[in-house]
Amino acid sequence: MAIERSAAKRPNWSSGFAFIMATLGCAVGLGNIWRFPYVMGRNGGAVFLLMYILLTVFICSIPLLCELLLGKQMRRGVIRSYEKINQKFSIFGWLCFITSIFIPCFYFVVGGWTINYIFIYLFNQMPTDQAAYFAEFAARPCLPLLFGIAFLILCAAFPFRGVNKGIEKANNIIMPIFIVMLILLAAVGLFLPNSIEGLKFMFAPDFSKFNFTTILTALGQALFTLSVGMGCLVTYGSYLKKDNDIIKSSGLLILGNTIIAVLAGIMIFPAVFSFNLEPSAGAGLVFITLPKVFSAIPFGNVFGLMFFILLFFAALTSGISLLEVSIAAILEKFKISRKMATVIMSSIILVFMIPAALSFGPLSGYKIFNMTFFDAMDFTASNILLPLNTIILCFVVGWVLKPKMELLTNNEKFYNVFNFLLKFIVPPVLILLMLFGLGIV
Ligand code: PFF
Repeated sequence: MAIERSAAKRPNWSSGFAFIMATLGCAVGLGNIWRFPYVMGRNGGAVFLLMYILLTVFICSIPLLCELLLGKQMRRGVIRSYEKINQKFSIFGWLCFITSIFIPCFYFVVGGWTINYIFIYLFNQMPTDQAAYFAEFAARPCLPLLFGIAFLILCAAFPFRGVNKGIEKANNIIMPIFIVMLILLAAVGLFLPNSIEGLKFMFAPDFSKFNFTTILTALGQALFTLSVGMGCLVTYGSYLKKDNDIIKSSGLLILGNTIIAVLAGIMIFPAVFSFNLEPSAGAGLVFITLPKVFSAIPFGNVFGLMFFILLFFAALTSGISLLEVSIAAILEKFKISRKMATVIMSSIILVFMIPAALSFGPLSGYKIFNMTFFDAMDFTASNILLPLNTIILCFVVGWVLKPKMELLTNNEKFYNVFNFLLKFIVPPVLILLMLFGLGIV
């Protein structure tokens, strides 16, 4: 059994393409397909998009670079990377580790829902009352849990096989197919009658909806969708070869992730407006509103099937990266095999996933601070742990590690701007985001 103990035995991405596909797979997920279009539409459309791009480039790119830098330099998972800087920083790695358990608990439940919808469209079982069907399905005691477990097993199968044979292969195959399917479905959306209204909703700036909250929402969305703040990019960065240009890779990642999110909006909103439906939030938009569209258009079951396969692919590649964080971390921390680490982490996540999957039915009455278990996991991870981990990352890399210029760039001006943003601008902005997420601001 191959035990990845030492840095010498550490796997490497076999090409720059493999690294880009893996990081894109990690970043592109449920956050892009349903969350981005909806928050964009709700927060002023084009103004939000502009804000999102500016904040991504000037704020989020900094911790993103820090994560890749930390991984590339330390060549370890997130716990050992922090420990290599200072043994006392072990706790920061463990915080990322805990986050990597919290997020899959609710994320994998939604991943399981996508499998259910794939089956519905595959066997032509589209319900007539979409809202009632969704509520009834999510509330069932067994089926959502079983699909959640199936999703967990599918995600775990790739890290189980290893970085090159599993994670890299999966992303190299899935991501190009995903992109082609997305472009195709976006094109279909554009050809529907009245699709222009959907584009207006997304792209026409509505300054009346623009305020301080918009900025913070755009920032939170950017961090979540770029998968910053949990050590995913530390872990994936640790498999980089020394000569990889992380600035170029980060640029491609940011560009690709943004284009995919905008394409997702183009796929969804023209269709929603074409049928005079409500462009409402979250789970409802994807699992209730869109099925209404699919039941109304010609070949709707084919497009429905394609859409849910697309959503499943997006969730799967992110799910793989979520698992890899904790697997890589315990594998080297406790010197166990990759296979053993995968089984241990999947089992731990399974235990926490059960109450999350039952949050819409049998456990809907059990509340933590007035939230179901599912919502509590989501809230704690997105509003507390992700921003907290990112703030810590910036302090540690900026003030303690102080990365050498040659590791990042040979352009002194760029390096100085990076350092300035990292030390003085990004942390206060992130602290503000966190206070906002907690409802304190
Ligand atoms: N970026 C993923 C999405 O947009 O769905 C979610 C995610 C994956 C968040 C990995 C954080 C993470 F570490």
